[in-house]
Amino acid sequence: MSSSQILKLARKLELTAEQERDFLDAMQAGNRSRSALVITPKAPEGYRPPLPAKDTPQEWGHSSILALPSGEAETKPGSLPDYECGYYYPLDLSSVWETAPLAHLPFRPERCLDMCAAPGGKSILAQTRVSPQEHVSNEVNPKRLGILRHNLLRCGFTNLYTQRLRPDQWAELAPGCFDLILADAPCSGQSLLAKGIPNPGCFNSSVTGGNAKRQRGILLAALRCLAPGGFLLYTTCTYAPEENERNVLYLLKRHPDLHTITVPELEHFRSSLTQEACYRLMPFHGAGAGGFTCLLRKEGGHPLPLSLPDELKAWPIHAMNC
Ligand SMILES: C[S@@+](CC[C@H](N)C(=O)[O-])C[C@H]1O[C@@H](n2cnc3c(N)ncnc32)[C@H](O)[C@@H]1O
Repeated sequence: MSSSQILKLARKLELTAEQERDFLDAMQAGNRSRSALVITPKAPEGYRPPLPAKDTPQEWGHSSILALPSGEAETKPGSLPDYECGYYYPLDLSSVWETAPLAHLPFRPERCLDMCAAPGGKSILAQTRVSPQEHVSNEVNPKRLGILRHNLLRCGFTNLYTQRLRPDQWAELAPGCFDLILADAPCSGQSLLAKGIPNPGCFNSSVTGGNAKRQRGILLAALRCLAPGGFLLYTTCTYAPEENERNVLYLLKRHPDLHTITVPELEHFRSSLTQEACYRLMPFHGAGAGGFTCLLRKEGGHPLPLSLPDELKAWPIHAMNC
């Protein structure tokens, strides 16, 4: 990764000179990872993990989600017995930030589809934040599906189903069946660099362009599964505008019945690249390596999702052996 590639991206993102310096520093130092712990249904009442965890920011955090201090933790959350017991699920604080718009749903979702679910962070965050009545966590990659199921079961999220369908299959088999869809799409993962994880090629236009195309396919399929009045949360862990704002604009152009939802508590993070309500977290915000989030709603009143064919609920988590 060369500094000229990072600076080129910084210019595209219209960063100030100070932000540009911090961005370059974060990408080269690779030390901006920040963990959070989601306290799960398995944890005893009033549980506090044996780690220096603090409350997440009130504006966009949650009472069941704790933040660890920045920098290298002495104890890895995944190395403790409480982790094996499933009392908490560790993830990057950026993921918590990305799901903050869910606080703006005007109803408890009747049925949620997490289209790209493994290893399970966003499903667990959606369960924690809005507790959908029915929830399907989908993952196309068989190996990752196993990890997803293991994580959900370990943490005691048993009132949901898993599936392994491609987005186009979902669009075919379950049109209009969901009032909440999470599309945490595979992306070029530029923020991995700010965590110190090598990601060669993540700035190449062929990589970001290829990801943008795949994301558009996933998003269009997701929209077919969405009931009128339902919500789509689009998130990535990359900075490239073509995978973020430009995909949102693409959707809005193709679907005039769609609009973005303003999230007042994220206004500080509002993208300057569009008038639409798109939000980007950067490493200099101090809440992890970074990400992108946008909540969209399909026109309509209170959503009435169509019923989900039983065969799509073939793999309930509660039927698994631990
Ligand atoms: C960013 S990860 C999801 C992370 C997850 N939401 C979480 O919070 O733990 C993207 C996921 O999409 C899956 N994926 C890859 N290609 C896909 C495709 N064409 N359609 C749907 N999902 C895909 C990957 O296997 C990967 O598990």
